[in-house]
Amino acid sequence: MTAELWSRVDGYIVEKLVQEDDALAAALDANSVAGLPAIDVSTAQGKFLNLMVRITGARRVLELGTLGGYSTIWMARALPSDGELVTLEFDPRHAEVARLNIDRAGVGDKVTIHVGAAAETLPELAAQQPKPFDFIFIDADKPNNPVYLDWAVKLSRPGTVIILDNVIRDGKVLEPGNADPRIIGTRAAYDRIGSHPRLDATVLQTVGAKGWDGFAIMIVD
Ligand code: SAH
Ligand code: DHB
Ligand code: MG
Repeated sequence: MTAELWSRVDGYIVEKLVQEDDALAAALDANSVAGLPAIDVSTAQGKFLNLMVRITGARRVLELGTLGGYSTIWMARALPSDGELVTLEFDPRHAEVARLNIDRAGVGDKVTIHVGAAAETLPELAAQQPKPFDFIFIDADKPNNPVYLDWAVKLSRPGTVIILDNVIRDGKVLEPGNADPRIIGTRAAYDRIGSHPRLDATVLQTVGAKGWDGFAIMIVD
């Protein structure tokens, strides 16, 4: 088994079942032109998020980590006509590229981007006492993941589904001595999830165009 084979199988899955369209391809092109890092979810993973929004019947979605809005577009497309998606992004340049991509994809009326460090924009958001989110995708800076999980629960209702990205990292999650703050943050997130009185979870490991990684999938009790 090689990363190259995983990637070719991903291509087969996309060709048979996913059919990424022009607006999504244009978003990835625009990201590349603008020099954004190519760390978006894969096409098959974007479709997975889209299906999860549909399966949960979510009307309100929260995303942490917009980048160029690729995952945002996949999720926003799954929302009903009165659905809303709030996405939080630290880098104003990323947010600017995302805004254009999201508008071009025709879902701009559903999506609000808050620019700033999520650890600051989350309390601001919470202070407005928004209706609880039905589905939350956490995909920002990994060291803050334990903090983000706590905010996600605060902004939830019983039954809210939370997905946390990048919880395997080529298996590096098994390395207690790893000094990478992203691995430390991810391991701390496992501890937080495992001990959280209101979270029930598992992890799906994934291979494909983005290598070997995984999603933690949680429900808020
Ligand atoms: N969800 C996107 C990928 C997100 S990449 C997709 O799949 O298409 C992670 C993003 O988190 C980057 O754009 C990065 O700028 C942003 N980020 C980093 N630190 C952050 C912080 N403190 N608050 C909010 N966003 C942050
Ligand atoms: C990185 C971040 C991500 O969210 C991802 O899916 C892949 C890589 C990174 O920071 O390297
Ligand atoms: Mg990610």
